[in-house]
Amino acid sequence: MLRLLRWTTDHFAQRGIETARLDAECLLAHALGMDRLRLYLDFEKPVTPAERAVFRELVRRRGADRVPVAYLVGRREFWSLPLRVSPDVLVPRPETEILVEAALDLLPPESEARVLEIGTGSGAVALALAHERPGIRLTATDLSAAALELAGRNADELRMAERIHWVQGHLFEPVEGETFDLVVSNPPYVAESQRAELPPELLHEPSEALFAGPDGTELLRELVEGVSGVLAPAGALALELSPEQAPRVADWCRARGLHNVSERRDLSGRVRVVAAAHRVEGGA
Ligand SMILES: C[S@@+](CC[C@H](N)C(=O)[O-])C[C@H]1O[C@@H](n2cnc3c(N)ncnc32)[C@H](O)[C@@H]1O
Repeated sequence: MLRLLRWTTDHFAQRGIETARLDAECLLAHALGMDRLRLYLDFEKPVTPAERAVFRELVRRRGADRVPVAYLVGRREFWSLPLRVSPDVLVPRPETEILVEAALDLLPPESEARVLEIGTGSGAVALALAHERPGIRLTATDLSAAALELAGRNADELRMAERIHWVQGHLFEPVEGETFDLVVSNPPYVAESQRAELPPELLHEPSEALFAGPDGTELLRELVEGVSGVLAPAGALALELSPEQAPRVADWCRARGLHNVSERRDLSGRVRVVAAAHRVEGGA
């Protein structure tokens, strides 16, 4: 087993995969139907020819086709929740936990707020919020029916199906006439112009989950422009974005009359979230 791991790690590293050892461990554990940490406890266990064949195919798809490990094993952890993922949804990213943190700052522990997530994908953000704030009422949308189906399955498995109302459609269209205290979104924000330079793994993810116009801001802009129509008077908005988009999105928020525009940064100091508050009734 250890020899297999060493060989696969070298093979992945030669192909320029930065997480070579981790990927090799995840795929071997998956092929053997065990936990990754179990590998080191059971390292003398012989690998059967059938397991070896499964592993070989996983290694080929990772090494040659550059399929993300999460798609190969069908799972990814987000906010410590074990989620199912498939090529119908974006693989939830660690930086999106910053969006969850920003949203939680706007939701006191006893909150009963009405929260809207636009573009839920695997359901990662909505499920993390439902998990942390038992009193909130959540609506989560996506353009993709396949994504909503998977998100619903994740909610079932995490016993949160009753907590989230899933609706399909473009941005605010499926919630027309409704009002929310908080709107959160990690919309597609990659620039079309970057398509050719992206790591090969990203090309396995749904393009409608990644790209949003020539500079990536098309949906961010629509979100800022439309949010007042669904926000309660004291409501708020939190958006994930790429750092260079932050100043423009913050300006759009101010131009639309939103207040308290703030930023949230990752550990390397790059802005990953812009948040803003709706006009408070009777306020400035
Ligand atoms: C970047 S992914 C985020 C997925 C998930 N919320 C996460 O953070 O991992 C963006 C999601 O928005 C959805 N989407 C794209 N365009 C949309 C639109 N116009 N209206 C609603 N959802 C949209 C995509 O299908 C995708 O699931």
